[in-house]
Amino acid sequence: MIYHLMVNEKVKETPTVFSIYFDWDVDILPGQFVMVWVPGFSEVPMTVASVKDKKCITVKVYGKTTEKLSQIEKGDLLYIRGPYGKPFTFNNGEKLLIGGGSGMASLRTLIDEKSTGIIASKTGDELLFKDEFLPGRAICVTEDGSSGIKGLATEGIKAVDLKKFDAIYVCGPEMMMKSIFEILKDTDLNVEFSFERSMKCGIGLCDSCSIDGLQVCKDGPTFNMNQVRAMYEFGRTKLLSSGKRIYMK
Ligand code: FES
Repeated sequence: MIYHLMVNEKVKETPTVFSIYFDWDVDILPGQFVMVWVPGFSEVPMTVASVKDKKCITVKVYGKTTEKLSQIEKGDLLYIRGPYGKPFTFNNGEKLLIGGGSGMASLRTLIDEKSTGIIASKTGDELLFKDEFLPGRAICVTEDGSSGIKGLATEGIKAVDLKKFDAIYVCGPEMMMKSIFEILKDTDLNVEFSFERSMKCGIGLCDSCSIDGLQVCKDGPTFNMNQVRAMYEFGRTKLLSSGKRIYMK
């Protein structure tokens, strides 16, 4: 079923990322996603970045469909299927949220008074949702050094005591997640990853999102550390929209 939902607010979050708010009377859990149809273009998977009364999707422009979505305004209609996917396992204790680029959109739904964020981006003006953490709980990392620590998300990890966290959640580009995985894989920390892969159907039919026999849309997009440890393809291969599997650089 496709829901027709009216946009009631659009917020520019960074120069290239914006949030679209709408009313939708469904239960959505942190980490779940929706498929958004843009008439005349295609359907794209979007993480839900607010799951409370006001729902929202947070969009980074990266192709024609998201470019068209960026032109949507208050009063326009959104065409949405879902919600889909396995949510994060919520932990009520101290949480570390590690988000790269627009990956922070998925983690935003976990931010509370016990959350610490490692927010990574290329430049300071692209740091997403850093102001939603309590003061002193947002560690910013930028590749160009224009804000916070200079470097990649892995540099942010050096600034925290990992042992104090009851749960760690990671979302961002796959190679970024892979580098975080390499640091955490031999620990007994409670870690979950949210995967971003090419998706067509969103409901386990087309296999465009598969990784090691699992479907990111149905078996994920959240996977725990044990599941990720067992993946050979993680950080190694991806499927093109043609269905061809290629090695990542
Ligand atoms: S997107 Fe079709 S099987 Fe996952």
